[in-house]
Order: sequence, then C-alpha cells, then structure tokens
Amino acid sequence: YNVPSVRPQQLFEYIGQGAVREQLSLSMQAAKMRAEPLDHVLLYGPPGLGKTTLSNIIAQEMGVTLRQTSGPVIEKPGDLAAILTRLEPHDVLFVDEIHRLSPVVEEVLYPAMEDFQIDIVIGEGPAAQSVKIDLPPFTLVGATTRAGLLTSPLRDRFGLVQRLEFYSHDELCQIVTRSANILGLEAHLEGAMEVARRARGTPRIANRLLRRVRDYAQVRGDGIITQEIANAALNLLEVDQLGLDKMDLRFLDALINKFDGGPVGIDSLSAAMGEERGTIEDVIEPFLVQQGFVVRTSRGRLATNQAYQHLGVEKPQTNG
Ligand code: ADE
Repeated sequence: YNVPSVRPQQLFEYIGQGAVREQLSLSMQAAKMRAEPLDHVLLYGPPGLGKTTLSNIIAQEMGVTLRQTSGPVIEKPGDLAAILTRLEPHDVLFVDEIHRLSPVVEEVLYPAMEDFQIDIVIGEGPAAQSVKIDLPPFTLVGATTRAGLLTSPLRDRFGLVQRLEFYSHDELCQIVTRSANILGLEAHLEGAMEVARRARGTPRIANRLLRRVRDYAQVRGDGIITQEIANAALNLLEVDQLGLDKMDLRFLDALINKFDGGPVGIDSLSAAMGEERGTIEDVIEPFLVQQGFVVRTSRGRLATNQAYQHLGVEKPQTNG
C-alpha cells in the first residue's frame, strides 16, 4: 500500500513564497537556455516551510538527479569527495543543515563550488600528496534555519540566497485543501481554514494536523472535515486558537511567570524550560516573534502586551 505524497513535485503546484518561486523560476529558465547548471542556492528559514520540497522541485524542473545529504553526515573531506565525484553533470546536491559542516569539510567545498574542482590529500606524512580532481558541474542547494549560522566565505559562494517566510492563512488553506484532495478527503472550506489558522504558518504542521483531524472525523464524525470537527480535533491536540502548541505556551509561561516578562537571556530561558537553546531559537521563537508575542532586544527576550493578554496574566505595572 502506497502513502500518497502531498509534496508538490513541480513549481506550478507550489503554493506561497511568491518571490522565491519567481526568482528561482527565472534563474532556472535562464540556466536551461544557457545549458548550464543552476547557480548554487541557499535556502534558509524555520523548519517545515519547504526547503527540502524546493530542492526536489529544482532537480525535477532542471531534469536532473537529486542527491541528498546533511552537514553532520559528512564527517571527513573524503566523504564529501566521494559524493561530489559521483555526481552527473548538472545534478543537484542538497545539503540539509549545511551550517553543521566541519571546517575541514567546508574547505573542500569552496573550490568545489567555485571551480568544480577539489584538492584532496592522499596518504600521510612525507608520502602525502595533494591531487586535484575535476568535478562535473553541479548545483549545490544548501539549507539552514538561519543564514547567520553560516561562515561568510560559505554564504558568499551561493549565487541565489532565498529566505522562506511563514505562510498566510489563505496559503495554508490552499495547501490543506490540496492535501485533502490528494488524500481523498472531503473538507469544507471552513474546516480547511480552521486547520490553516492553527498551523503556526507552517505547511508541515498543517499537513500533520490535517491527518489528525482526518482520524478524528473518521472515528467521531462521518469522515467529513467540517469546521466543528476540525475545531474539536485541534482542541484535543492541545493546539490553541492561534495555533500555539504546548512548547510555545511553555516558552511564554517561563518568560512571563519565571522571568517577569523579561528581558531575559536565551540561556536562562533554556535552563528554566529544560529545552535546548537551538530548539528555542530555531523552532519556537521565530513564529512567536513574527506573531508579535516576543521581541528580541539587546538585553534579551521580552514578552509583549499581546503575550500577557493571550496567557490571561495581568501585566505588572512599572513606574517610569
Ligand atoms: N505542501 C507542503 N508545502 C507546500 C507548498 N508550499 N505548496 C503546496 N503544497 C505543499
């Protein structure tokens, strides 16, 4: 039995990220006209917004093979050399979490990106030799949660740098409707919109919630995704009216109730929540900042009035 994929395969099926789509489309068309590989692409932004999906689409649209790996998996220069030398001309190499490449591996990547060449050292001690290997021209698609995590020499070698944004409710509603069709589900517009509103601006979350709403509709309803069913299912999943999940609420609770609303440093919040700093910075905070619940100041994180209101906590009055 095959699980149908809700992932778009071509650019015309991809919803949202209008500016990214248009720039990629233009550069892909131009590269094809010149019979060249697409310039290297860096995609950055919070998880679940479509970095992997876009790299798939780039390979499809360019008519080449996609090779996928990730920063932590490439341990030694030889691991990267093995991948690069096996590429076919114009192939797309997708490196997820590219900020986690080790410095020695990154060194190998620079001439590979710039001149399609690598210098590798063979042997050790006095017998060591450096050999130059020509590579097939290829496109590197790097993905990371924040562009600032990359060293500048690496960042500077990408010709196309695209930031993915959170999706609007309308865009997410279109995505949920499309996914429901692919899964063979009947979803009312209001039902799809309820899922969309509570998906943290993130297609991956919208698609996950849709599957859970489907379960609920099947067991407690007649299978149809109405607004009422979606609402009941999402309440059961402890996703609140604005789409904040338990982690978001734990973060706001710590900020407001343990640190008086801040400003507080990320490491103190991390210790209070028992959550990794990276998870807070990359997964939890970006949506809360975009939605205006939290601001980042030079002295640390600060809860906004909106955050107090949402938690139903009285904001302490300060003088001056
Ligand atoms: N599924 C996940 N992300 C999507 C997107 N941006 N467009 C269409 N379908 C999607």
